[in-house]
Amino acid sequence: MAVDLLLGLQWGDEGKGKIVDVLTQKYDIIARFQGGPNAGHTLEFNGIKHVLHTIPSGIFHENAINIVGNGVVIDPVIFKKEIDALGKFNLNLKDRLLISRKAHLILPTHRLLDAASEASKGKAKIGSTLKGIGPTYMDKTGRNGLRVGDIELADFETRYRNLTDKHQEMISHYNVEIQYNLSELEAEFFEAIESLKKLQFIDSEEYMHQAIKSGKKILAEGAQGSLLDIDFGTYPFVTSSNTTAAGACTGLGVAPTKIGEVLGIFKAYTTRVGSGPFPTELFDEDGETMGRIGREFGATTGRKRRCGWLDLVALKYAVQVNGVTQLMMMKADVLSGFETLKVCTSYKYNGKEINHLPYNIEEQNVTPIYTEMKGWAKDLTQITDTKELPKELNDYISFLEKELEVPITLVSVGPDRTQTIVR
Ligand code: GDP
Ligand code: IMO
Ligand code: MG
Repeated sequence: MAVDLLLGLQWGDEGKGKIVDVLTQKYDIIARFQGGPNAGHTLEFNGIKHVLHTIPSGIFHENAINIVGNGVVIDPVIFKKEIDALGKFNLNLKDRLLISRKAHLILPTHRLLDAASEASKGKAKIGSTLKGIGPTYMDKTGRNGLRVGDIELADFETRYRNLTDKHQEMISHYNVEIQYNLSELEAEFFEAIESLKKLQFIDSEEYMHQAIKSGKKILAEGAQGSLLDIDFGTYPFVTSSNTTAAGACTGLGVAPTKIGEVLGIFKAYTTRVGSGPFPTELFDEDGETMGRIGREFGATTGRKRRCGWLDLVALKYAVQVNGVTQLMMMKADVLSGFETLKVCTSYKYNGKEINHLPYNIEEQNVTPIYTEMKGWAKDLTQITDTKELPKELNDYISFLEKELEVPITLVSVGPDRTQTIVR
């Protein structure tokens, strides 16, 4: 059986958590393959809202196994908090949550290095979530990192100490004041390591291989979005992992020939949190309205998300890079009440009209060119059947399908599990 992928196509926060939760009933295994606690995936059902950071979004389904793959970076302290928060739901995590031995560990000093790096950049900062993601992936590619499997080794503490000493030395070279109490951070870290040890560590690539062979249905859950990809995103304002389809192969040990459907998820408009270019960003009342109705505040940091119109140039690029086979449009309900909707269909780039994403989309180079469409007034949040969708929304969907050349198979009209319309 092939592995299906669910990927965010914009700058993250498209609603991946909600859709993975909705789709889990069709899958045996849900696996995260990259990113770490920089992610915040929200799911809502039975009137309760859950936010997951490292734990896959299939965790609430009794029959699904959830895997944290080798490509993920784990902060044991945040992981423990997530586990503790799930405690009251009796989820039997011991059997249902499996962790790759090859996943890298975020140490307290990785977080400090992240803070020092950002502070030293001043106005040019990335707007990182400060969870230590960049420094941890740097240690991974620099071949210095610590992995989950190292916890089982007799000299884990020595390895930890060597790396931490090196990090402290590095922090001292940044020209910024970082206040910290390392012994407090370490006490918390080692307590969390003990809690992590209560879960099952696995050789996840072998597990995945056997699961595929025995016909299990697997969904890989992306974190962040394609425009934050380390190679294909708006570099350097990106995260430090491959958030695109290829990341699922390296982050789980799954061959490209074993990938099935690629489900691409996008908001009916666009948001971005943190720094970096955003051609269709709005600074007017329309942007404010999207932010207010869409409750656009980060699930991990609480920061206000920047809002703007849908950017089809960027979305097309993400569809191509990932080989998307089905699209899912989120937060259509947020656009109810806009008299006119705008969709960016090309850019004016250094004076010329183009319809691909160029090397550099800084605002001085790029002006979005919009197509206007009629909006709809109808509240969508109670709709359960495609027949009840307003004509203008159907026109909006048809226009996007024509431009993107991929069918939109699902429309989301609210944060709850039930507010999901399959087309
Ligand atoms: P993720 O990181 O991709 O999982 O997305 P986040 O959880 O960070 O952000 C998506 C936000 O939108 C969450 O607060 C969701 O509860 C909410 N949400 C998801 N789908 C919809 C929808 O269709 N309509 C509305 N109004 N909110 C939604
Ligand atoms: P989910 O999975 C939105 C952004 C940060 C920052 C940049 C780098 O919930 O969609 P990092 O902490 O990785 O060094 O930050 O990437 N970012 C996200 N934005 N959703 C996310 O995850 C994000 N994870 C990181 O705001 O601009
Ligand atoms: Mg999020």
